Amino acid sequence: MNVRTQNLLCACQKLEGIQNKSDPWRPEFHVSPPVGWMNDPNGLCQIGDTHHLFFQYSPFDTKPGLNYWGHFSTRDFVHYTYQEPALCSDEQFDCHGVYSGSVLVENGQPLAFYTGNVKKVGAYDYVEEGREHNTILAQGWDGCHFHQKTLLLRNEDYPENVTCHVRDPKVWKEQDTYCMVLGARRKDDVGEVLFYQSTDLLHWELKNSLVTEKPLGYMWECPDYFVLDGVSVLTFSPQGVPADGFRFQNIYQSGYCVLHGDIGGDYTLSEFRELDAGFDFYAPQTYQDEQGRRILIGWLGMPDSDYGYAEKAYGWTQMQTIPRVLSVRDGALYQQPLPELQALRRSAFRIQVEESSEMRCAPAYETDIRVEEGDHLTLRFGTDGVLEWKDGMVTLSFGESGLGRTSRTAPLEQLKRIQLFCDTSSIEIFLNDGALVFTSRFYADPVASVFSVAVQKAEFIMWELQPISIRKENLL
Ligand code: FRU
Repeated sequence: MNVRTQNLLCACQKLEGIQNKSDPWRPEFHVSPPVGWMNDPNGLCQIGDTHHLFFQYSPFDTKPGLNYWGHFSTRDFVHYTYQEPALCSDEQFDCHGVYSGSVLVENGQPLAFYTGNVKKVGAYDYVEEGREHNTILAQGWDGCHFHQKTLLLRNEDYPENVTCHVRDPKVWKEQDTYCMVLGARRKDDVGEVLFYQSTDLLHWELKNSLVTEKPLGYMWECPDYFVLDGVSVLTFSPQGVPADGFRFQNIYQSGYCVLHGDIGGDYTLSEFRELDAGFDFYAPQTYQDEQGRRILIGWLGMPDSDYGYAEKAYGWTQMQTIPRVLSVRDGALYQQPLPELQALRRSAFRIQVEESSEMRCAPAYETDIRVEEGDHLTLRFGTDGVLEWKDGMVTLSFGESGLGRTSRTAPLEQLKRIQLFCDTSSIEIFLNDGALVFTSRFYADPVASVFSVAVQKAEFIMWELQPISIRKENLL
């Protein structure tokens, strides 16, 4: 039995978990793995009228293992199709995992670029020795799998000063030139991004190494690059950045620098800004849809953290964030929930909050709060989740329901609007139209959960949200 068939059987046998009503942590409107472990989003793209979300997927266990590219697709972000993995390890150059990467759509056909992970057997440190990170092109898409793999770059093709850790290609096209960024760990333990170009997709030439003025961690994972409203943005997920006051509180970070100048020549990177101030947000990727929107999806989790993920008891773990539309204001990225999610809204409940209001809530809901008066606000959700704004700072905190998630703080002078998406065991909070976002998992007793808001005066709407539907296809 080959690995793909094994995986398929495993996924089929356990897929009923998707409907397992006794699982209190399964999200209603977030994408989560049928079984096993999911990590970051890969290959986000739109082909025709269909959006594709591939993801790092290790179906055999609730921890990372031999990673596949799992696959969901959707036309409307309400009805999804789940198919068996699109990529698996079936070559020597990717035998220990088809790691993260991206999809370039050329003439209506997806071309996948990913990292083939190889771990040699021996007494290696797996940083300077013992690991291959191969850059691979996969094509020959049949609507479900990529059939033809071509090895593009091996470790010996990367610059001398980098370790074996060079991965997560993001590819895009500028006029007739193909461009690629790769995340890398230098031998002197400085994270950077390698920038390559190609005219034929097969031969790639190194054009630049992108670093911040001062080193920022030892490794940059999952880089992405795009120009939005005339601003050039390099996003990446650095590892090894020490905490600095309320900044960089998680074990790993995700954020962006604005790139001034020429990505292939003289450039400077602005100060690094985190994309999220919560506990569970990592390795986001973006794509441009056919309407021209720059859509971001992140991994709603935190690798190597000591937070609890209670759904492991039900045979699955991790999920993706809701899709978010990016825009630039005053040189900073703003994130807004994708408008298509409004189709999930049911039974609106509107009130004018004067001082405070408390209500019961469904397991999956959205709120939109417009603050009219007040210089502080306290919002409570679940059993002990609190979002508090006072003295120009916002704090998200949990008691027991946080399973190790305590508190995270970020500065915010004025609070005008809170858009909040709560989905059973996750919360995404967009403040001031997405200028500041907090994303987190939490595990509150659904029966004891309430929602309350205390502020001098605010307009408040809450919608119960219906679940997305997931259809299985091509599972033999
Ligand atoms: C991000 C990441 C990537 C890598 C993948 C492996 O979390 O570590 O750098 O390609 O996950 O699953």
